[in-house]
Amino acid sequence: MTLRIAHFSDTHVLSLKGVKPRRFLNKRWTGAVNLALNRSRHYRVEIFVDLLDAIVELGVDHAVCTGDLVNLALEPEFEMVHALLSSRFTPDRLTVVPGNHDYYVKEAIADALFEAHFGDFLPGDIDLGLEGTRYPVTRIIDDEVVVIGLSSAIPTPVFVANGEIGRDQLAGLEIALRHPRARDRFRLVLLHHPLLPEPARRLDKMRRLVNADAVIDALRTEPASRPHLVVHGHNHEFKAQTVPGTSTPLIQVASASRAGNRSRAEFNVYVIDDRRLTRIERHIHDPETGRFVPHDVAGRPLDVARAS
Ligand SMILES: [Fe+2]
Repeated sequence: MTLRIAHFSDTHVLSLKGVKPRRFLNKRWTGAVNLALNRSRHYRVEIFVDLLDAIVELGVDHAVCTGDLVNLALEPEFEMVHALLSSRFTPDRLTVVPGNHDYYVKEAIADALFEAHFGDFLPGDIDLGLEGTRYPVTRIIDDEVVVIGLSSAIPTPVFVANGEIGRDQLAGLEIALRHPRARDRFRLVLLHHPLLPEPARRLDKMRRLVNADAVIDALRTEPASRPHLVVHGHNHEFKAQTVPGTSTPLIQVASASRAGNRSRAEFNVYVIDDRRLTRIERHIHDPETGRFVPHDVAGRPLDVARAS
């Protein structure tokens, strides 16, 4: 049996609708808004809409999103993205995890805005026996795939973009990977932050997963329980690596809304044949036509037949 899973991330939707002007008197807040406004020139909702429509048009079996759906974690942003997603995906067709921007302000964390809006897409198909956390989320897709979604989003100062996977979640990850319902399925792990550092990137130390080594250790379990694929976002460019010490592909997807020539909006499609990853496609935005054109991992155009 063949299954196709689409992966998108880092849409950074901004909306300041209803934000009270007195908030702008706060210097820290003003800095964040200026940064967000600057960012929003490069991250466009209309491209994200085209990308979602392209995924729907492909007729994939499932879609996963690795966070940073919104920009400042304001309620109108969550409402806008929820409307875009829920009009295209029934709850059984999409699984999401949060990124640092989904937890950007402390009010968003206190009110659990991400979970309140996207609860339908945060499944718990495997009972992990954990209390007090809904992560990792678990999704069973037929007899073929189990998706295990981690939350690396933590409260940080506004200009810091680090992440961390808590101890409860690491325990949950180990339980999920070894669970009988995961044993004979393709095991796909999602998280927002990269597992490996990006030393060439400016301010990388303020953008990392702080306990990446512990997460890698948990993923490097005995071969019978290891993930078959680990995917993430955060750095807004495509990258294909492997989880250290294993042959498990570690795939970073580009941003789903990025405009301009430096890096274009993309989503990935993972083709899984009989519980084996047989192909990775990058669907890259063509600003001339507004279409998303399939490419291989090296960026060469592919000829892909559309699902009927
Ligand atoms: Fe991020």
